[in-house]
Amino acid sequence: MSKNEEFHNPVEIFCNEWSIYNKVIVNNYMYHVEIDAILTELLHRQYAKRPISVIEFGCGDASCSAKALSTSQVERYLGYDWSETALAGASNNLSVLNSEINLICGDLLEGVSTTTKAYDLVLIMYALHHLQTNDKLKFFQHCQRILNQGGGLFFVDVMREDQQNRDDYIHAYISYMTDHWLALNKEEKNTLSKHIGENDFPETASWYRETSKQVGFSSAEKLGQHTLHQAWYFSN
Ligand SMILES: C[S@@+](CC[C@H](N)C(=O)[O-])C[C@H]1O[C@@H](n2cnc3c(N)ncnc32)[C@H](O)[C@@H]1O
Repeated sequence: MSKNEEFHNPVEIFCNEWSIYNKVIVNNYMYHVEIDAILTELLHRQYAKRPISVIEFGCGDASCSAKALSTSQVERYLGYDWSETALAGASNNLSVLNSEINLICGDLLEGVSTTTKAYDLVLIMYALHHLQTNDKLKFFQHCQRILNQGGGLFFVDVMREDQQNRDDYIHAYISYMTDHWLALNKEEKNTLSKHIGENDFPETASWYRETSKQVGFSSAEKLGQHTLHQAWYFSN
């Protein structure tokens, strides 16, 4: 059990209050529309001419990934998440893919550590910041291990600025959320603020770039940024 799990469950909000996160997606507060466009373009650029195998960690309801992946030839897809509620949505959303779909309710770090099959594409969006630094490093090591030659890791997450410590980040994100996410009521904002304050452990973009190099990825490409939300592609 990692240090933060001793005190609270980082995914409780996604198990019990998916409707709040669904409002965030529907109102595009975390830029899922832009992420969908970036991922669709990446798929066309890197994987247009062949069927691909995909594994997604912290897939949630897979609403964003399913839309982008539906423009490609996916031969098999495996998704991991800890929330049964989210996985029920994923099962529905992924049915647009004409491919073998498997969904597993479980911990993403355990999932990536025990994966023995190889994949062309690993996806993880807005889930890694819940892990402690050393576990994020382990996640990157295993992604590099399970990727086929020519494959890559599409990674989206919230990130700290280089000189910003965790407390400053949490303060900035909660202030931004309170001022701009107007479709959420006061109680929903309080629930989200508590979740962010207790469970978000973002790293800097520099840390991810260095870590990707350290574990053996050959390139790190920043694909987009909106406020504190960034999209990257690390290729093998
Ligand atoms: C912010 S949501 C993102 C969902 C989706 N990837 C998206 O971009 O809309 C984070 C998701 O990661 C899942 N999650 C977080 N930590 C996890 C862990 N250690 N193991 C499995 N799932 C996890 C949560 O249950 C939740 O569905």
